[in-house]
Amino acid sequence: MALREILQYPDPRLQKVARPVAVVDDRVRAIVSDMFETMYAAKGVGLAATQVDVHERIIVVDTSELRDQPMVLINPEILERDDQGKEWEEGCLSLPGIYDKVTRPDRVRVRALDARGESFEFDADGLLSVCVQHEMDHLEGKVFVDYLSALKRNRIKARMRKRQRETEPA
Ligand code: NI
Repeated sequence: MALREILQYPDPRLQKVARPVAVVDDRVRAIVSDMFETMYAAKGVGLAATQVDVHERIIVVDTSELRDQPMVLINPEILERDDQGKEWEEGCLSLPGIYDKVTRPDRVRVRALDARGESFEFDADGLLSVCVQHEMDHLEGKVFVDYLSALKRNRIKARMRKRQRETEPA
């Protein structure tokens, strides 16, 4: 297992669309275990492969209080979504310290492959639903600030760029 570097917004690699995983093999499981290690170390509730510069359809989530319910979703699909939208304050490991409100369907039904390559389905609501939808957006090259106004997004972009300049060696 190894920690991977998390791409920071507005890195253009965060806009890449991920390709489906063809075979769930040891190579994919090694990526998954690195992603869990990286997510837990960063105290996140979810991470998409896109964020560690792997452009394959893999996400990991753990929305449990005790951080003991790791869930991996390979090639995830949303089968059904609620008409009812719900607003949550979202954050992202690619935009540390930035939070804003996003409205998404409250409940979704999801199908994915697990780490053995077996298909499974589940219903999600609340934080798990938000998290799965947020991470699936990453696989489409989308981050949560894309839902905000251009004005807000540009302000966030400027803030992130300034921060990156300050932490870069001269
Ligand atoms: Ni994110």
